[in-house]
Amino acid sequence: MSHKIQTLSGYIHEYQKSVLQPEVFWAQIGESFHWKKRWDKVLEWDFEGPDVKWFLNGKLNITENILDRHLFIMGDRPAIVWEPNEPDEEGVTLTYKELYAKVCQFSNAMKAQGVGKGDRVIIYMPMVPEAAIAMLACARIGAVHSVVFAGFSSSSLADRVNDCEAKMVLTSDGNFRGAKKIDVKGVVDEALENTSTVEKVIVYQRTGADIAMKAGRDIWWHDAIQGQSEECPAEVMDAEDMLFILYTSGSTGKPKGVVHTCGGYMVYSYYSFLNVFQYTPGDVYWCTADVGWITGHSYIVYGPLLAGATTVMFEGVPTYPHAGRFWEIVDKYQVNQFYTAPTAIRALQAHGLEPLEPYSLDSLKVIGSVGEPINEEAWHWYHDHVGKGNCPLVDTWWQTETGGIMISALAGVTPNKPAHAGLPLPGVQPVIVDADGNELKSNNVQGNLCVKFPWPGILRTTYGDHERCKQTYFSTYKGMYFTGDGAKRDHDGYLRILGRVDDVINVSGHRMGTAEVENAINEHPKVVESAVVGYPHEVKGQGIYAYVICDMEGRTEESLKNEIRQTVNKIIGPIAKPDKVQIVPGLPKTRSGKIMRRILRKVASGESDQLGDTSTLLNPEVVEAIIEGAVKD
Ligand code: PRX
Repeated sequence: MSHKIQTLSGYIHEYQKSVLQPEVFWAQIGESFHWKKRWDKVLEWDFEGPDVKWFLNGKLNITENILDRHLFIMGDRPAIVWEPNEPDEEGVTLTYKELYAKVCQFSNAMKAQGVGKGDRVIIYMPMVPEAAIAMLACARIGAVHSVVFAGFSSSSLADRVNDCEAKMVLTSDGNFRGAKKIDVKGVVDEALENTSTVEKVIVYQRTGADIAMKAGRDIWWHDAIQGQSEECPAEVMDAEDMLFILYTSGSTGKPKGVVHTCGGYMVYSYYSFLNVFQYTPGDVYWCTADVGWITGHSYIVYGPLLAGATTVMFEGVPTYPHAGRFWEIVDKYQVNQFYTAPTAIRALQAHGLEPLEPYSLDSLKVIGSVGEPINEEAWHWYHDHVGKGNCPLVDTWWQTETGGIMISALAGVTPNKPAHAGLPLPGVQPVIVDADGNELKSNNVQGNLCVKFPWPGILRTTYGDHERCKQTYFSTYKGMYFTGDGAKRDHDGYLRILGRVDDVINVSGHRMGTAEVENAINEHPKVVESAVVGYPHEVKGQGIYAYVICDMEGRTEESLKNEIRQTVNKIIGPIAKPDKVQIVPGLPKTRSGKIMRRILRKVASGESDQLGDTSTLLNPEVVEAIIEGAVKD
């Protein structure tokens, strides 16, 4: 635990060291892990390629650093504490020893079904300990996992299976989420009709739903582990071998597979976890994310378990069976660090203070926020009523591509400022640039957020398409990683994230490409053209507003709007369903035929009086009609 920074001067010292001598700095942190062979060189990089390598020729297995390493000293300490959807169903606690045995056993089960090093495995599962076991078992045998959030549709799942040519799918019969029982296996079956690479499907029994098992392909989890040994040698992995692929949305095309590798991701997820949350041995830590997102990867599974922490996993939703469920769980397990998303805070804030009253929340030491900008009102509510005014609130800015937290207070060590992510972690060199890519070095500036030096958790490529990685992140500003976010540095030097500056919207902390939603809408046979923008939404942060040109024959406006929502639901999943659909006679276009999204954003945000100059449009007359028909709340 020697790498835990505990004072502001310690932070300044470490930060300076990380900039002046990055290789020395990261080597010292790397040394606290078990390597099967030490690296030859700490870093090689070139942001033009891009080509970034950390801990070159180092050999390791991340699960040895999570499991084997912790067995002797703290094998009996809880690693995963699982809280089921129903409060009266008994939870599960797995100690490090038990987790070790289960991971090894499932590793052997996967091997027996023909999966080995380098094979891709899709995990499409509910929030049960087996989801984490599945991830770790893949890592143990060198298979590359790609977790797909179990709310995605069969066609989204099929796209991901096809893109990474997965050999195996790990899933469940069904899924409990609040009052709902969700079909999971049926979605997998439908997806696999449009794929050709999957040889085996292992099905974890969770709901007891009546499902079809395809002979020769499908096998129950409990049958697969039957008779398998609880010991499994860890595959020797190169530091730069792939650990996982995680699909995320961008401003164009289909979601891309962000690739993270074994060595750098291990070091970065551990280091950032330890320092941001100021984890102390014995603490109970809870992150409410789903393992289908990067937050679940780095801060439910890898970071906490690398640090030997107790990590809580919750299957359900914040408001089921009542709006105090989160707080009930905090008290039940005496949670010390609690990490959630602004959208959950705003949703709970809307229920008032009553649901908090029965709970003491006295165990809390640190509270955290992730996924989207947290507005000041939600910040204060969270800080005052959950943190009781005396827990540092870490507003953590990062991305799927960064692997771990990049800008955040270190709880209680560096200053907290409402709605500001704050200062960068050691090893992170953020810059704010103007439209031409010039670095704006002083305080009180605003521009686009880039990072000018690699950190160990940076993505290495986008799976199967390195050029796309280059175009998306490394071409906008030469020699820099471009985040897609706007940011402001205030007079004290603290960074405030302003949100996306590209065609990506952030709905309840979930990233969505507007093009992706448009493509889904355009699948409806009556749709001629569509344009999707985000607009401010009280709970979700941003809502999805779709402008659609349709052939109305044989449909009422209402029925068509519903069909359009259902089409998106089917093609992407419920999280992408537009909140508002407006049928329009045309879309405002420039003379070169490009949709003027600026105008559509203003109308969607209720700022039609601030449209600016529309005279250069090809079809200025549609603007009036769009304003008139705008969907209000
Ligand atoms: O716009 C930023 C926003 O979420 C984006 C990254 O989304 P994703 O890859 O899905 O990862 C989410 C969890 C790390 C960023 O480009 N974002 C994330 N955290 C914050 C944030 N915006 C403001 N403040 C944050 N703390």
